[in-house]
Amino acid sequence: MSVQIDHNLEEIRRFRPSPEFAAQAVASLALYDAAKADRLGFWAAQAKELLHWHRPFTRTLDWTNPPFAKWFDDGELNVAYNCLDRHVEAGNGNRIALHWEGEPGDSRDYSYAELTAEVKKAANLLTSLGVSAGDRVAIYLPMIPEAVISMLAVARIGAVHSVVFGGFSAESLRTRIDDASASIVITADGGYRKGKVFPLKTTVDTALADGESTVRNVLVVKRGGNEVEWTEGRDLWWRDELAAVDAEHVAKGFPAEHPLFILYTSGTTGKPKGILHTSGGYLTQTAFTHKNVFDLHPEKDVFWCTADIGWITGHSYVVYGPLANGATQVLFEGTPDSPHPGRWWEIIEKYKVSIFYTAPTAIRSFMKLGRQIPQEFNLRSLRLLGSVGEPINPEAWIWYRHVIGGGSIPVVDTWWQTETGAIMISALPGITDLKPGSAQTPVPGIEIEVLDDNGAPVSEGGGLLVVSEPWPSMLRGIWGDPERFTETYWEKFGDRYFAGDGARIDEDGDIWLLGRVDDVMNVSGHRLSTAEIESSLVAHPLTAEAAVVGASDETTGQAVVAFVILKASQEDAVSPEEASVLLRAHVARQIGAIARPREVFIVNELPKTRSGKIMRRLLRDLAEGREIGDTTTLSDASVMQVISDKVR
Ligand code: PRX
Repeated sequence: MSVQIDHNLEEIRRFRPSPEFAAQAVASLALYDAAKADRLGFWAAQAKELLHWHRPFTRTLDWTNPPFAKWFDDGELNVAYNCLDRHVEAGNGNRIALHWEGEPGDSRDYSYAELTAEVKKAANLLTSLGVSAGDRVAIYLPMIPEAVISMLAVARIGAVHSVVFGGFSAESLRTRIDDASASIVITADGGYRKGKVFPLKTTVDTALADGESTVRNVLVVKRGGNEVEWTEGRDLWWRDELAAVDAEHVAKGFPAEHPLFILYTSGTTGKPKGILHTSGGYLTQTAFTHKNVFDLHPEKDVFWCTADIGWITGHSYVVYGPLANGATQVLFEGTPDSPHPGRWWEIIEKYKVSIFYTAPTAIRSFMKLGRQIPQEFNLRSLRLLGSVGEPINPEAWIWYRHVIGGGSIPVVDTWWQTETGAIMISALPGITDLKPGSAQTPVPGIEIEVLDDNGAPVSEGGGLLVVSEPWPSMLRGIWGDPERFTETYWEKFGDRYFAGDGARIDEDGDIWLLGRVDDVMNVSGHRLSTAEIESSLVAHPLTAEAAVVGASDETTGQAVVAFVILKASQEDAVSPEEASVLLRAHVARQIGAIARPREVFIVNELPKTRSGKIMRRLLRDLAEGREIGDTTTLSDASVMQVISDKVR
């Protein structure tokens, strides 16, 4: 097992909740007791308390055919109705749902009543375009209100969204459209990023250019104002079409196990996995965790999760959790440092954000810039901070709490995955004594174990993180590939879920995450597959062979480092420096900028075992500037010396 994150094993600081926070905390110890006494009864009670059911369920969990779980499966609900109409009907129509802030500084507020009205129209529009329950709609948008509106409109009519992050390339978009057979794409002309407009519609055009696709229509939101080409009959302006449809739409109930969305994520092979989530269980656990992990008081809090809706964090804690709970939140189109490095803190000050949820990589880049930048802003509205995406090192945790949080407010480190749908491990603020660097405790109703390779519990030292009982927001499968679903997550430990993360449990029973144990990298909290980047590199005419590793990086957690052997015929055509530049650009173009290698080293050989397997462990040692580890299993032990001479 490769443990990539150096944890501070000496970390012993503890932070008690303040009496003031504890006195008003939403969560309580009683939640743990209730879940312990009757786990299924606990989740059934949460589902009833937190959601509106068009038809009440009588069955909580059907686990007769593992790993295919069914939760609340004889019940019916409408996910969008739960996120919108019911808040309006309860008299909260005037509450702000979204404070949207555009990158150039334009802004728009949507009350729950306004958001509901928009979603009703968008639902009618999709229906008029022939979308019905179960059909797939691809969404490729910047962080604008229409992204949220589209997702909810799709959900409202029982269709299935597949949101593709706006930074992904035409090719990545096409693969995802094809895999899900999407019939509609919702995009924008362009979006703003660091003061410039980046095109999205053009990328959709490129994606759809080759060969027949399943896409009938492309709906285009006007945002960037950039020029776009138009395919008559296929392309439609969002605003014009919305103006022509009925404003009323009655949400009908769908079965709890009706598919809600597909979201693609990287696995250990080159092909991204379409993670499938369904309705009732997903919404129950996102609402439950959003309320209790973030101590939500919906009538007064302003919540801000900085994730893009293209990732699971954006699905669960920008769209579904907060809106199901009737929260007021900030939606921000831009980046943290444009047009100035205090942009996020300015937004917190402007909207009086009280709960803030972001990733360790962002915190570490702010640490580098220094505390004087956040200190120029009034951040006193903050009362709770959250972290997600990768292990947070204790230094970053302490900085976050002190510099951003003013020194006394809780910081919750939340562990979960695209596959788990919602938070699985986290402290509960006001209840748990906090430990910097540890995600700490499974949330009530979740069972976690750390096992060795043979499935025996590990009491000390590291092991593999396993979820031992099904949970409401668990993935229901991989789109179109039930075998891969079973193989990836369930083969190793029977009907217990293998997460792919290493972990250890300390003497208090707190869980410390140690990073991935497979060929998945975590760059700035985003998952990338070594195999996917290797196959992109090999697809370039210069490349004969490629190996990719995730090397630890002070800011991004891990960084992509590639080792490439050029084809003999190409060696004289380009210098190693030129080849490296070309290949880095090629990966960014083929997969997306997030996958661009930090370094591409041109080498003559790769370290291989006698059976021909590339020893990435040794390459990682090299990329991280460490002493090269054990080379005795190499077919030619001198290879590492040759490579390291090239690289250093
Ligand atoms: O390795 C774990 C890491 O991110 C992986 C999941 O990535 P993704 O599906 O993209 O979802 C990210 C946001 C939920 C996990 O397998 N990870 C996520 N949160 C943490 C974490 N590692 C340590 N601590 C965390 N809090």
